[in-house]
Amino acid sequence: MKFTYLLSLAFLLSTPLATSHLFSSCTEGSFDSAHVDNLLVVRDDLSPLSADEKLAISTYAGFLAREFPRIALVTKDEDMTWLKTIASTTTDSQSLDDVLTTLPCDKCTYVLCKIGDNSTSAALSFSAASSDPVIVATDAIVPMLETHGIKMIKNLTDTADDPFWALDQDDLTFNSHVSVIQNAMNPIPLADLTVKCGALSWWGWGDCEKDPQLPSLPARALNLLTKGDSVVLGWGGGDDPEWNCVHASTRYGAFGMIATDQAINVGILNIDPKNVDITPQKPKPAQPENTDTPKHTVSFVMSDGDNVQWVLNDWSAATGNNGWWSSEDRGKVKMGWTLSPSLASLAPTVLKTILDGATENDQIIAGPSGAAYAFVNDFPDDDTSTAFSTETSYLMETAGMRIVNVLNDEGWASSVGNLLSQDNIDGVFLYEYNGYSELEGAISFVEDKPVVGGRFNLWSPDFYNVTTLVEALQDLPNLDDVTSSDGYTVIPVHAWSHTVSDIVAAAQLLEEDGRFDIVLPEELLSRVAKNVRQN
Ligand SMILES: *[C@@H]1O[C@H](CO)[C@@H](O)[C@H](O)[C@H]1NC(C)=O
Ligand SMILES: *[C@@H]1O[C@H](CO)[C@@H](O)[C@H](O)[C@H]1NC(C)=O
Ligand SMILES: *[C@@H]1O[C@H](CO)[C@@H](O)[C@H](O)[C@H]1NC(C)=O
Repeated sequence: MKFTYLLSLAFLLSTPLATSHLFSSCTEGSFDSAHVDNLLVVRDDLSPLSADEKLAISTYAGFLAREFPRIALVTKDEDMTWLKTIASTTTDSQSLDDVLTTLPCDKCTYVLCKIGDNSTSAALSFSAASSDPVIVATDAIVPMLETHGIKMIKNLTDTADDPFWALDQDDLTFNSHVSVIQNAMNPIPLADLTVKCGALSWWGWGDCEKDPQLPSLPARALNLLTKGDSVVLGWGGGDDPEWNCVHASTRYGAFGMIATDQAINVGILNIDPKNVDITPQKPKPAQPENTDTPKHTVSFVMSDGDNVQWVLNDWSAATGNNGWWSSEDRGKVKMGWTLSPSLASLAPTVLKTILDGATENDQIIAGPSGAAYAFVNDFPDDDTSTAFSTETSYLMETAGMRIVNVLNDEGWASSVGNLLSQDNIDGVFLYEYNGYSELEGAISFVEDKPVVGGRFNLWSPDFYNVTTLVEALQDLPNLDDVTSSDGYTVIPVHAWSHTVSDIVAAAQLLEEDGRFDIVLPEELLSRVAKNVRQN
């Protein structure tokens, strides 16, 4: 007895304090397999369905995915590409009628709403909070549901003007680890995940933090979340959703935002990571430095990898030669890519596929800003910041990421201490969210590890284009001083104005100059750690 007790105590003590990980609340109890047979794929790409049908199908798909992914939506080629990472075989379907015939739902009821007003969010939330299957329906599909014997459980069409309806229902309980901000005009992306995870769905402000008309909506929604163990999916509205949403979600103690507002099938791709064998990136061998003629070390880093809806769409486009991960020029020069480490838990087969497709010249770094997109200087307390850093470290370990790209709205280097105290995080590339390179290449050391600011943005027309970037680098004073920050440049590449081909063009001009060494992010970081004097 005593022996067992001691053993279990030792086990408890060696178990990390955070027992739950990002999205474990959504995948616990879900299917125990790496592959889905016969995934029913609704082919909106072949013959478009109405939004009403797609909303109903997505909510039913989300309910089923609580146990096993059975239905998914294909709106374009990329959707099929990602679905094939979980499904060994698929069967096409073309309508709600067909879905309900193939996968009949005896226990189903429906909740009635109208797409585009607050009743959409109310109905999605109601469905999410129900343990029995509740399809989110609109008038247009009621006759079809009735022919399958599915009856109305609630009519929420009169909540059109009430964004608080779900929050006001004492008998509805929501997931305290995941919240979904989604425009009621665009309810199909994330509908599956909302229902699967039992998340509150909310929308309805101009300013994510404090809509003058709805001052307490974000506060009430975000207050349902557990500090230091939660995340917000979707994206907000208003003039500056990026600042508002990231700031508000961080300030309330969530890990931040994961931009997923246009992502299809996230709830279906969200399978238990323990079923996926991810091969993490491996550190690359050191690249010899030329000590006789010291060179200026440059690393390009593609931006916006936190934007999961983009990563699942144009970034990795299944067809065509897009400017990013799918670029024909990828692999021609050494470069870094930001990517949300949340994929390790949110969509593990997606992360696996991306890592497996990396060339020798691609290195993926985490962020912005970690487990989710947060301004790490905004966390309400040190416990939340520590929990964020611990979870970020765990996700980065899975992916073999060793650098984290942090975007702050102020506060600079001191706020990244908790991240840098993690053993598997070697350094931070620190940007200011609005201008990226406001630190102008400054380097500091926190926890004895380098924090490197962006120096010049490849970002048009606001900052540099290929020609002016190369000129600016050539004009740098002391550019070969490897002992100071003068000898190193991190170049944030603005994804919305520049492509991999532009990086290849800039790299070629720098090679021709002869005074520059283009390296992977980890190589730049290790040179800084080795050569730059700490002060
Ligand atoms: C939700 O209700 C509020 C308050 O009545 C209103 O201002 C807002 O426009 C509504 N939102 C939608 C999406 O209809
Ligand atoms: C739902 O409620 C609205 C508003 O009260 C009403 O007009 C409509 O007839 C109801 N629909 C059904 C199917 O009960
Ligand atoms: C780069 O920027 C400079 C200065 O604004 C401009 O003159 C030049 O035309 C730009 N080059 C390209 C290729 O856009």
